Amino acid sequence: MKICSTIAEARAACLDARAGRRRLGLVPTMGALHEGHLSLVRAAEAQCDAVAVSIFVNPTQFGPAEDLSKYPRQFERDCRLLEKEGVDILFAPPVEEIYPDGLVTWVLVESLSEKLDGRSRPGHFRGVTTIVAKLFHIIEPEAAFFGQKDAAQLAVIRRMVRDLNFPVEIVACPIVREPDGLAMSSRNAYLNREERSRALVLQRSLQKARQQFHDGEKSAAKLISAAKEVFASEPQVVLDYFEMVDPDTLDPVERISRRTLVAVAAHVGSTRLIDNLVLNP
Ligand code: PAF
Repeated sequence: MKICSTIAEARAACLDARAGRRRLGLVPTMGALHEGHLSLVRAAEAQCDAVAVSIFVNPTQFGPAEDLSKYPRQFERDCRLLEKEGVDILFAPPVEEIYPDGLVTWVLVESLSEKLDGRSRPGHFRGVTTIVAKLFHIIEPEAAFFGQKDAAQLAVIRRMVRDLNFPVEIVACPIVREPDGLAMSSRNAYLNREERSRALVLQRSLQKARQQFHDGEKSAAKLISAAKEVFASEPQVVLDYFEMVDPDTLDPVERISRRTLVAVAAHVGSTRLIDNLVLNP
């Protein structure tokens, strides 16, 4: 695996990897890798001739009161995992390489960026689309792989790619869960034992909505209210949002008559977790 810390090195390595019309896949990450990330790497390997992974804890997508400084960093361990998966290129730049002069030019997907997590985390998606656009310019992948767990992020990135004509296929990969159903996340590492067990309420609330939907309930308001009742069993978990939205526009739906994203975010102690599922009528 070639490890690149500068843009010039990464460009040269990726140019090499794409030689002879080989298809290069990119898995953008912030490190602290878990099975969810590795499932993206495996999908990229199955669909591409060469795979690049980026590890960059992107400061511009964290709010001033968020966890940038304590975000888990495990570079050595991440390298070992990626080596084992047979990754070709790892791009792991320092912050000064990506933002040498601060930043006055942003990529903003208007409107979508203010929905779901964007509402609770102002500026978050502007930081995400800016770094992802930069990575697409540097790596020039044919395909990029993202987890369905960040469903709002996926919608925002898909829209950016469409609006700005990036020649990149966006591939969404299924959520990877712990055996008890908790969606894998680098932030799960923050949870103590009690919080880890309380965090399962996110998954239970989604299951409740799914169950009632399968039992015939199609009103989003009723499904949301049933799901919110589940949170009453875990009063120490603070619900941020539980919403039913169009997976592309992130606009709320009233009745589940087409594919609908059911998304939840909640604070478990000081850790903010998200999860979702898709209902298909
Ligand atoms: O999903 C993430 O880990 C990040 O938001 C991403 C896409 C790597 C951009 O920093």
